[in-house]
Amino acid sequence: MTHSPLPDPPGADLGTVRDWVREAVQLSRPIAVLTGAGMSAESGVPTFRDALTGLWAHFRPEELATETAFRARPQQVWDWYASRRAAVAGVEPNAGHRALATFQAREPGRLTLITQNVDGLHQAAGSPGVLALHGNLAEDRWLDSPRACCDASVAAGTLTDACPPACPACGNLRRPAVVWFGEFLPEQALRDAETAARTCALMLVVGTSGAVYPAAGLAFTAHQAGARVVVVNPEPSELDPVADVVLRGTAATLLPALLSP
Ligand code: APR
Repeated sequence: MTHSPLPDPPGADLGTVRDWVREAVQLSRPIAVLTGAGMSAESGVPTFRDALTGLWAHFRPEELATETAFRARPQQVWDWYASRRAAVAGVEPNAGHRALATFQAREPGRLTLITQNVDGLHQAAGSPGVLALHGNLAEDRWLDSPRACCDASVAAGTLTDACPPACPACGNLRRPAVVWFGEFLPEQALRDAETAARTCALMLVVGTSGAVYPAAGLAFTAHQAGARVVVVNPEPSELDPVADVVLRGTAATLLPALLSP
C-alpha cells in the first residue's frame, strides 16, 4: 500500500514565497507585481461590474465604457464616470498597497508595479513609477486630437462647465483618461510592463481574474521567460495554471506577510 504524501503545513507556501522575495533582493534580481481589482477590494472600491448598481443597474460595461457610447451619449457616460470617481474619492490605500510602497522605498528600483486598476490607490500609497495599464480615473484627456484652441482654452481655464466639459472654441470634449473596451493600452506603459515581465525573477499576480488581455498575458510572458510566478487570490483565477505557487488569501493580509523585512 502506498501512502499519499502529507499535505504541506499551512504557511509552508507563504514561507517559500517569502524566501523567493528575499533571494531576489539578495541577488539583486528584478521583481514584478501585477495587480487587479481584488487589490483594492479591501479598500472598499466597487469593481467595475459592482459599480453598475442603482441608477446604472440596467447597463452592461460595454454599453458605457466605449468610445462609441461616449460619442453617442456623452453626458450619460460622463455621469457614470462621475459616480465612479465619487465612489473612489473617499477610499484609502489598504495594508497591501502600503506593503508594496514600503518595500519599494526600502529596495529602490527592485520592484516594478503594474496595475490594471484606475483608482490611483497605488500612487496614493506612495508607490513610484506605477505602470497604470488601463489609465487613471481621476484624469481627463481630449476626446479628439487637440487643436491649438483646445490647449489654449485649458491653459486659460475656460473649459465649458457642461458635462462633459468642452473646448469653448471648437467643441472638443474632455473624456476620462481610462482605457475603454476596444482601445489600445498606453504604449509606453505596456512596453515597460512587457520588459518587466520578460526580465523578472519573480512575479506576484495579485487580485486579478486574469480574464482581460493583454494584461493577463504578462503572467504567461514571465512564466515562459523562466520567472517564478505567484498568484495571490482568495478565489481560483485563470492564471492559476501558470503559477508556481497559488496563495489563497487576500492582498491586504498576504502582501504585508510576504514583503516585510
Ligand atoms: N485580495 C485579492 N484578490 C481578491 C480580493 C482580495 N481581497 N477580493 C477579490 N479578489 C479577486 C477575485 O477573486 C477576482 O479573481 O480579485 C479578482 C478580481 O477580478 P476582476 O473583477 O475580473 O478584476 P480584474 O482582473 O482587475 O479585471 C481586469 O477588466 O473590468 C475590466 O478594465 C477592467 O481593469 C479591469 C479588467
